[in-house]
Amino acid sequence: MRLGVLTGGGDCPGLNAVLRALVRRGVREFGHEFVGIRNGYEGLVEPDLAHPLSLEDVRGVLALGGTILGTSNKANPYQYVVREEAGRTVERDLSDVAVARYRELRLDGLVAIGGDGTLSIAHRLGQKGLKVVGVPKTIDNDLSGTDQTFGFDTAVGLIADAMDRLRSTAEAHARVMIVELMGRNAGFLTLDGGLAGGADVILLPELPYRVEAIVDTLKAQWKHRRPFSLIAISEGAYPRGGTQSVQARLEDLPGRGVVRLGGSGKVLADLLAPHLEAEIRVTVLGHLQRGGSPSAGDRVLASLYGAKVLDLVRDGLWDHLVCLKGGHLSHASLGETRKERHVDVHGEKVRLARAMGVGFGD
Ligand code: F6P
Repeated sequence: MRLGVLTGGGDCPGLNAVLRALVRRGVREFGHEFVGIRNGYEGLVEPDLAHPLSLEDVRGVLALGGTILGTSNKANPYQYVVREEAGRTVERDLSDVAVARYRELRLDGLVAIGGDGTLSIAHRLGQKGLKVVGVPKTIDNDLSGTDQTFGFDTAVGLIADAMDRLRSTAEAHARVMIVELMGRNAGFLTLDGGLAGGADVILLPELPYRVEAIVDTLKAQWKHRRPFSLIAISEGAYPRGGTQSVQARLEDLPGRGVVRLGGSGKVLADLLAPHLEAEIRVTVLGHLQRGGSPSAGDRVLASLYGAKVLDLVRDGLWDHLVCLKGGHLSHASLGETRKERHVDVHGEKVRLARAMGVGFGD
């Protein structure tokens, strides 16, 4: 078979490990040929962005961050940004161009590696007759089709490391350190990162916070130690009765299906300042959370996903993605991944964190 493969949406550690596993198994076991489509769906709309992807191309990329194919989180064929005369940009539905390019490239199937946006587009293209399978990635871990996406474990490790570093300086100066973390509308990164980094307070988009509750938690903790604290806050977290902190709105983000969040840490710092004597500092970890070499866990998960997706191709399970369910590799309908997954604020993890004295600001 001749299979196209693309990486779409925000990058994350492990994308290259998927490509390596896919090509290694595909060539060795099935004799497949691979076509690497560059820059996500841009490579299915624009000419000259699709090239053969060989065993040689994926040699030595297991531990490499980013993606050797390039990616884009604004190249949506259904809302493709086209620059018109006078520099004006308009959005056009170029999905038929993507379908035509798929046929021109003589593809027998397409492997889409991405998060909710990329996989939703894959599903829609599937409805137009393309044979698509998906591999779930995102540091946010917010895809409903799988228990875990690769990229998440590496990001949590980075957060834990950053919080270890912030702890020593927080303690030395008796300061409150607020760490703003990614994850969009889901708090998985903040919950696990906060737990791994020993945060005193964890603020999630799923649980709007009250400033008084946070102040009470901090003051209770300071009865037993120097007045320093670490607060992990999601970029999507917001005060009760308030709204999320938005950096850029949709009208300023042509082709993007989501707003760009950012600034929740600063908002919290301003709200806390009148109530605390301790100095407050804000660190935004930002894209550091998406970079670097994948963790051992993500290398394994990404490799298994890359190899496993060929089972779906072999079995004709088009319009499905590979996933992890209850610790086992499995598959699920691509249509399912369109639902965003959220932290269960009444679940075991939050309950036990509370029992350890972590405040959730509610
Ligand atoms: O979905 C992954 C993610 O890193 C989110 O956590 C974050 O909100 C967003 O992408 C950032 O996107 P961009 O790379 O466009 O700044």
